[in-house]
Order: sequence, then structure tokens, then C-alpha cells
Amino acid sequence: MCGIVGYIGERNAVPVLLYGLQRLEYRGYDSAGIAVLEKEGNKIIVEKQVGKIKDLQEYLWNKKIEGNVGIAHTRWATHGPPTIENAHPHLSQKGTIAVVHNGIIENYLELKNQLQKKGYKFQSETDTEVIAHLIEDEYENNLLETILKITKKLEGAYAIGVISTYEPDKLIGLRKGSPLIVGIGKKENLIASDIPAVLEYTKDIIPLDDNEIAILSKDNVEILDFNGNKKEKKILHVNWDISIAEKGGFKHFMQKEIHEQPRTIADTITGFSSQDINKIFSNLENINRIIIVACGTSYHAGLVGKFWIEKYAKVPVEVDYASEFRYRDYIVDKNTLIFGISQSGETADTRFAMLDAKEKGAKTLALVNVVGSSLSRESDFVLYTYCGPEIGVAATKTFTAQLVVLYLFALKLAQFRKKISKDEFDKRYRELLHIPTSVEEILKKDEEIKNIAYDYTKATDFLFLARGLNYPIALEGALKLKEISYIHAEGYPAGEMKHGPIALIDENMPVVFVAPKDYLYEKTISNIQEVKARKGKIISVATSNDNVIKELSDKTIFIPKVSDEIYPLISVIPLQLLAYHIATFLGKDVDQPRNLAKTVTVE
Ligand code: AGP
Repeated sequence: MCGIVGYIGERNAVPVLLYGLQRLEYRGYDSAGIAVLEKEGNKIIVEKQVGKIKDLQEYLWNKKIEGNVGIAHTRWATHGPPTIENAHPHLSQKGTIAVVHNGIIENYLELKNQLQKKGYKFQSETDTEVIAHLIEDEYENNLLETILKITKKLEGAYAIGVISTYEPDKLIGLRKGSPLIVGIGKKENLIASDIPAVLEYTKDIIPLDDNEIAILSKDNVEILDFNGNKKEKKILHVNWDISIAEKGGFKHFMQKEIHEQPRTIADTITGFSSQDINKIFSNLENINRIIIVACGTSYHAGLVGKFWIEKYAKVPVEVDYASEFRYRDYIVDKNTLIFGISQSGETADTRFAMLDAKEKGAKTLALVNVVGSSLSRESDFVLYTYCGPEIGVAATKTFTAQLVVLYLFALKLAQFRKKISKDEFDKRYRELLHIPTSVEEILKKDEEIKNIAYDYTKATDFLFLARGLNYPIALEGALKLKEISYIHAEGYPAGEMKHGPIALIDENMPVVFVAPKDYLYEKTISNIQEVKARKGKIISVATSNDNVIKELSDKTIFIPKVSDEIYPLISVIPLQLLAYHIATFLGKDVDQPRNLAKTVTVE
């Protein structure tokens, strides 16, 4: 939701903080600020700007701020509109404490009233400012003790960074419900919401768990729980180099990530085998039902996963939006597996749905892309995709990687439950190994798809239609288009169109069909004819050399022939490129679309 960075060491903190914020800008970008403990005079300097990190950088470029300890923040508004007053960091009344915060303090109004009665004056509408005044109000002679004390008063989810004039040789980070990692450097240490912010300085990180606090000096890091007990934590060495977090020559992170998919699919296929899936299955032998919970693109991956798990492993699967699942009277027991899909591993809706079901006795399995993410540590079991950081707000490479894991999970579970033979598994695994090449073939059509995109930039509404396994791909294609181009788009089962949406069809309505030569091809052809009869503009994704579809369509994007069951892994690629190019032609901020954030850590 928001991005936090903190630094303590021998460098001037300002450039380190700004660099870190840049790497976190995808987490939220409507205002940003820094707070630095000035080298001389032990005063906290706070500078903030509305807008993007570059606006803050421009504002700061001629200001001389010298200090080795600081915190910084890029905001995605949850309480109060994006204004300078509401931007973080927030300073306590006497200027002794500066705080940055990601999350929501649910009881902030009650705390704010108590502080106002004590004479505290608030400068902002945020929940975060309460934390700064609270620490100052409670401080006696020990910053750590004070912070541990106020954690008992804070309700809600938070990752917090704190610096203080009382103890200028300390940087403190704490988390409960929002991500925070510690970067372990040489004579310098950092805290950050996510790994890319520290990669320039260190690849050794410690992800904090909920209810943990880190006390950093330039030479030491100590981690305690909120009761003050020391925690022994493993240092993870991250093999993401900084180039991964850079654009690598592409115009946008999203474009780079679309083109990374041959490698990320291959890496995830390999990575899957390195995970002890049979250990997971041996703990799940009594599972007789799976409920997949997820949001957005991850939800669409779950819909495809349902097909595969039911087809091969013969286990009933429900798929539910996490934000809906949690608030219905769902039925789970110890034989139910809740399978949470979340590339960030931090989506609040998904996290809390899973924690809720776990409390009710279900087993939980998370599929995430981020090592050390909350979901990976809160679930009974975890599977990873291997994509490296996905910076573009619109999910692309993490989606196809999720599909790879779901496909292999379904096949492995089927084999474990003796529903398919090892030979059948091997045959399908071998075919999967060719998918990166098929994706490469489609990516070579980038220019062709860009030309098609150009013809549709003036459309105001799109329909995406498909049947069976590709229906979730139609949903995903619609989501990609609307979230980055702001053009209204709907995904629908092609067979459902005649029950209403067909009324929308006219010569101004582009209809995108995902129509590979699979088991529902004939049915899809009749749907295409229904649209054509009503003068709809038809863009089809079809199997190579399918001239029937080509004849029926205004534009056709051919994809290689693969087995029916794995078309979703490749049929989504043309839709990602179509959305990307339409949005780019429209001059939209593709990597940071309006109103969106990469990780939604509020419900
Ligand atoms: C996808 O393009 C969107 N950015 C969004 O729907 C996203 O998929 C959703 O917020 C879930 O995120 P997660 O996978 O990190 O849980």
C-alpha cells in the first residue's frame, strides 16, 4: 500500500532514502517525504511533497540536509487526501520523534482524542500522526520500552519506522500485519517495505514477522518480539540483482515483465521441482475439498486452477473472491484446504480470509511470489512462483507463473492420489517445458499486436469472451485493459453473451474472443458468428493457421497449437500486449495507473 525506507550508517541518509523510495514507488505514489536526524544539533528535518518521488527529489536537490539516520515514505492514501500535511513522515509535537507508517491504525480516533485532551495539536487527518505524539507522550528514558508499550495500545495493521532525537544512534522498525524487511549491510543497516529498496546496499535481508521489532544501529541489528524477548532470525540472501528491479531497456516495467515471461515460466517450472510438494501432500492426505481464495488477477489464476485440479486430481474446488469469502458463513473443517493465491503475499483480503479459515480448523496453503511475505509465514504450507519482483502494478509474469504452479500442483496431486500415472505426468510435464518457446513465438508478434491496438484506442467499451478453461483468460484480458487504459472492459463466458450482453453489440463495440482450437471450438465459432451478425468488431486469439476464425474476424492474433488444457498459459500473452499498447498509445501511466497500488494491504 505505502512504501517505507529507513537508513542508519556512515553515508548521508538523503540519497539512500530517495533511492529506496524510487524502488518502492509502485507501492503507492500520491505523496512522499523524508525525515533525517541532522548531523549537527540533533534536530529532525522533515521534508515532504505531494506527487511522485521525482517531485520530492526536485524539491530537495538544492537543500543541504546532512545526516546519517533517516526514514522516508511514499504514500497511497487511506486516511485523508494526498496533501503535504497528510504526507509522511509525521513529527511529534516537540519534534523529538519522527514516524513513517504503512497500514491502518483502526483505533486512531480514540487515541487522537485522548492526546488532544492532553493538549496535543494535530497537523494532519492521518492515523499515523497519532503514533508520533503517542511515543513522545509516553517517552521517559528508553525509546524501545516506550515503543513496546504503545504497541499494546495500537489496534490494526502496521509497519512503522521511527527515529528520535532522544536516541539519535537508533533506527527502529516494527511490524504487525504489513510487510517490513531489514537489510543487513556493512557499517550500515536499513529497513524497507520491500526488497528492491535495499538491493543497492545489500542482498542480505531479514523479513520481520508480525509482532516483531528491529533495533538498528550502524553496526548492529537486534530483533525482539513485542514482549521484549530476543528473536533469532535467519538471514536470507536474495539473488535478485539490481537490474531485475530496473527496466532493462524497456519503456515500462510492465512491458519488461511481459517479455520476461519465457524465463519466469521456465524458472517457475524448475523452481517447482525444488519445493517439497510431496511433504505438503503427505500432510494433506485427508483433504477432500479445496477452496481457492484470491483477488484480481490471482483470482483469475484460481479459476483456471479449479479446472485443472478437478480434471486431474478429482478434488472438488470452489474459487471465491477473498473479500467475499471472509464475510460469508462458509463451511470448512480439518479436511478442507484453503489455497490462497497472492503474488505479493500481502493482500489484506486474502491474508485475513486465510487466517479466518485457519482459525476455523482448515489447513492453509499459500502461493506467493515474495520470499518472507506475510502469507508465506502465516500459512501451514507455501509454494512459490519464481518471477523476481513484479514492479508494474498490472500483474503479468506473476499470473502465468501462478498458472504454472497450479498446473503442476494439479498434476502432482493427481499422481499422489493415483488418479494419473507417472507416465501421464511425465508426458504433460514434457509438454509444459515447451511453453516458454511458445510464449517467445507470441512475443515476436509484439509489433503486429501494437498495430492492432492502435486501431482500437478510441473504443470506450470492450467485451472479452471465451469458453471453458479460457473464460478466466477473458476475465484477465478485460482486467488488464481497464486497469491500465481506463477503458471499460468486461470479461464474459461466450455462451452467456446471448443472455444479455449481446444487447451491447454494435459496430462500435470491439469484442475480443479467446478462441483456440480446443474442445469448445465449435461452440465458440457460433458465438463469433452471433457477434458478426450484429456488426461487432471482432479481434480473435486463434490457433495458428485457423483460417475459419481469420475469415470471421476483423483482426486475428495466432498462437501456437498446444494441448487444450494448457492454452491459458499462452492465450493470455496477446491480451497483455493488447492492453499494454492501447494504454501506451493513450499516454497512460502504465506502471502506476491512477487509483491503484501494487499491493492492497487494506481491506
Ligand atoms: C492485477 O493486475 C491487479 N494489480 C490486482 O487485481 C491484483 O491482482 C490483486 O490486487 C491481487 O494482488 P496479489 O496477487 O498480490 O494478492
